[in-house]
Amino acid sequence: MLRLTGFSRQLVRHSWTAYRTTTFPTYRLFSQTALRFHGHIKKPKPGEELHVTFILKDGTQKTFEVSEGDTLLDIAQAHNLDMEGACGGSCACSTCHVIVDPEYYDALEEPDDDENDMLDLAYGLTETSRLGCQIKMSKAIDGIRVALPAMTRNVSSSDFE
Ligand code: FES
Repeated sequence: MLRLTGFSRQLVRHSWTAYRTTTFPTYRLFSQTALRFHGHIKKPKPGEELHVTFILKDGTQKTFEVSEGDTLLDIAQAHNLDMEGACGGSCACSTCHVIVDPEYYDALEEPDDDENDMLDLAYGLTETSRLGCQIKMSKAIDGIRVALPAMTRNVSSSDFE
């Protein structure tokens, strides 16, 4: 029986990985999953529904019943609203920029430095601008209304040339 030493074992493992990935490449297409898996929101329990209203770019309003802890980005994406969320909610872009109704703005937690840095890059910044991925639904902001700005900007390295 062939016994492999540590180095040989590594070589075989590496060769197998190289063979497998070149012979059976796995391609993952963008947005391949069903819409219901986007946004990662859960159905609110009866009696615990919170409400959020999005004012879309054309002025129409959409109100949803959501659960505590859902972010505005997840809610928007789960309902196929026009909120890109290019960084996936990691506070590294400004494509989830929303303008919060001043009536609810003070009920939100203060934005941290990372969020403020990203907001500085957003088009059409206002006094009540926030990033949708950083706003989690809670009882304190039940009924919140946010408007989607006319434009968003995803900064790329070419913007700094
Ligand atoms: S999704 Fe990129 S900062 Fe919110």
